[in-house]
Amino acid sequence: MLNVLALFTVIAVCSGKVQNVNRPPYKDIAARARYVVHRADWAVVNTISTQPRMTGLAFSNTNALADGLPDNSTGVPYFYVSPLDVSIQDIVTNNSVTVSFSEAEFNDIEDCIITSGGDPESPLCTRLVLIGKMVSVIEQSERDFAKKALFTRHPLMPTWPESHNWEFMKLDIKDLWIIDFFGGGKHIPVEDYFNANPGYN
Ligand SMILES: *[C@@H]1O[C@H](CO)[C@@H](O)[C@H](O)[C@H]1NC(C)=O
Ligand SMILES: *[C@@H]1O[C@H](CO)[C@@H](O)[C@H](O)[C@H]1NC(C)=O
Repeated sequence: MLNVLALFTVIAVCSGKVQNVNRPPYKDIAARARYVVHRADWAVVNTISTQPRMTGLAFSNTNALADGLPDNSTGVPYFYVSPLDVSIQDIVTNNSVTVSFSEAEFNDIEDCIITSGGDPESPLCTRLVLIGKMVSVIEQSERDFAKKALFTRHPLMPTWPESHNWEFMKLDIKDLWIIDFFGGGKHIPVEDYFNANPGYN
């Protein structure tokens, strides 16, 4: 019995998935936001397009991210990006970005699963928007941390072709906006967000 349990633990750790986090109550919007960012493996990154036919328009793109190791959340979304990605080309001109999360991506939140009681657009299914600037990760120890976090949680990443000049970037968060209950969206002070507990057991 113990051996079976040990095996499951190993599988859980190797999958790079975030384990053992509790969904904070809707009233604690800062903790709810930290929880969403920590659990998320990807989000939609919105830039101001510089591409032909879309110049100046909002451009949305899915990007993989990690805010830390499964058991070590920082609240800072880290990305592994290539200059071949059109979003990154946009960022060279203007690094103001908006990053959108939905709790529906976790696949296990009843408020989000489409039934007569849930929907991704239900106010109870968290929608979180981070507004900020996309910046390069410069300092070596932070680069090492970003790499470990991203490669642990995205096992395909180490195989991505070197010729694409992958780089580590992060979102420098300036503002947050959330809906996780009835009554409309709310802003979360950045300081409250970083001081909140991301829902560890
Ligand atoms: C989490 O990661 C940060 C950054 O590398 C490190 O300073 C901290 O000690 C880590 N905490 C835990 C609990 O591993
Ligand atoms: C980037 O775009 C934002 C939003 O339109 C604008 O406020 C800001 O001035 C722009 N920054 C640069 C460097 O153009």
